[in-house]
Amino acid sequence: MRRQDQISSFCYAARLFALVIGALVTMSTSIRTYRCHQIDDDITTISLDEVTLPAPAPDEVQVRLKACAVNFPDILMIQGKYQKKPPLPFAPGGEAAGDVVAVGSDVSDIREGDAVIMGCGHGGFAEAINISSDSVRPMPPGMDYAAAASFQTAYLTAWVALTCRGHLQAGEHLLVHGATGGVGMAAVDLGKHLDAQVIATGGRDDKLAVVKSRGADHVINYTLPDGKLGGFRDEVKALTGGNGADVVYDPVGGDVFDESMRCVNIDARLLTIGFTSGRWPQVAVNLILIKQLSVIGVRAGEFGRTYPERGIENQRAIYDLAASGAISPYVCRAFPLEDAIAAMQMLESRNVVGKCVVTMNDYKPVLDHSID
Ligand SMILES: NC(=O)c1ccc[n+]([C@@H]2O[C@H](COP(=O)([O-])OP(=O)(O)OC[C@H]3O[C@@H](n4cnc5c(N)ncnc54)[C@H](OP(=O)(O)O)[C@@H]3O)[C@@H](O)[C@H]2O)c1
Repeated sequence: MRRQDQISSFCYAARLFALVIGALVTMSTSIRTYRCHQIDDDITTISLDEVTLPAPAPDEVQVRLKACAVNFPDILMIQGKYQKKPPLPFAPGGEAAGDVVAVGSDVSDIREGDAVIMGCGHGGFAEAINISSDSVRPMPPGMDYAAAASFQTAYLTAWVALTCRGHLQAGEHLLVHGATGGVGMAAVDLGKHLDAQVIATGGRDDKLAVVKSRGADHVINYTLPDGKLGGFRDEVKALTGGNGADVVYDPVGGDVFDESMRCVNIDARLLTIGFTSGRWPQVAVNLILIKQLSVIGVRAGEFGRTYPERGIENQRAIYDLAASGAISPYVCRAFPLEDAIAAMQMLESRNVVGKCVVTMNDYKPVLDHSID
């Protein structure tokens, strides 16, 4: 190539490069986002930072967030106790809803202005996020951003547990522990949707009143005078004609799990979902034998990864129920982005009923009811 041609090729490439960089700079935007810079038991160590969000990559969309649900993994990730450990610094916030404001050059099925939901894993306590277009779905019609951000994990967990793992049948007695919380309340809603008789437990009468108003057939307060959890065994037996529950849904574990083993029917399925009480229970195998009981582990996300087709079916089932209005999470409180730490503290201190959310970009949901 002649020297003159070489120079003009170089100039052309440089101009192109400058154009691309210029376009990226113009399309990048300044946002506020929480960031966890160090793993720490103290969740107040995260900071609200001003950062530059670049334009979305070719396969990504940029979403201006409106609401992000608050979940236990958000806290555990900051503390380094969750199985997934995002690289530092990261923003907590695993499921969110908002509006698409920019789309990458390879994205054809999503447009600017679309309202979407996402399971982002982390990054949701922010004003905007760039996310793979495969990870967003249209917001269910009729849902507001707060409910849309909150329903996916809770209802998918309950759906996988009750249908795929527990094979709950109409008319069976379903005992739901921790029914005042996110995945518990979802199990109450879906249990009623599947025509089960639902007995719901929780730790406070005012929170249980909300669970009852959502359709639980019976509620039991499992807080004992000494602060431990239990004391539901006889009532469950009485409510089930002496037989015990056919399916137990247990996100609490510890003493609650142990006592559940004493009020189950023959052929019961005890679904272990989580351990909010802080103790992993040990199983007495003689009781499993006597009752022909099945103790079944549930990992809703893993179920979809192991059986991708069934995972898609389950996602669709939940989405369709949400779109039809058959299910909607109870959102008790919305915190503005700058108060995201207070939102996580509310969850930690067991003061949330159903779900609470963090909101951004001046979005203020209308809540049916507010709990402080
Ligand atoms: N297996 C899965 O696929 C899956 C999926 C999602 C979540 N999970 C797990 O399920 C559990 C519940 O999640 P969630 O989102 O429903 O949480 P949540 O909204 O905080 O609800 C948990 C409930 O547990 C009860 N609880 C009893 N003892 C507690 C304690 N010492 N500390 C905190 N809560 C206590 C609380 O009810 P009271 O105050 O009324 O007792 C609370 O409402 C978590 O462990 C989570 O990791 C599992």
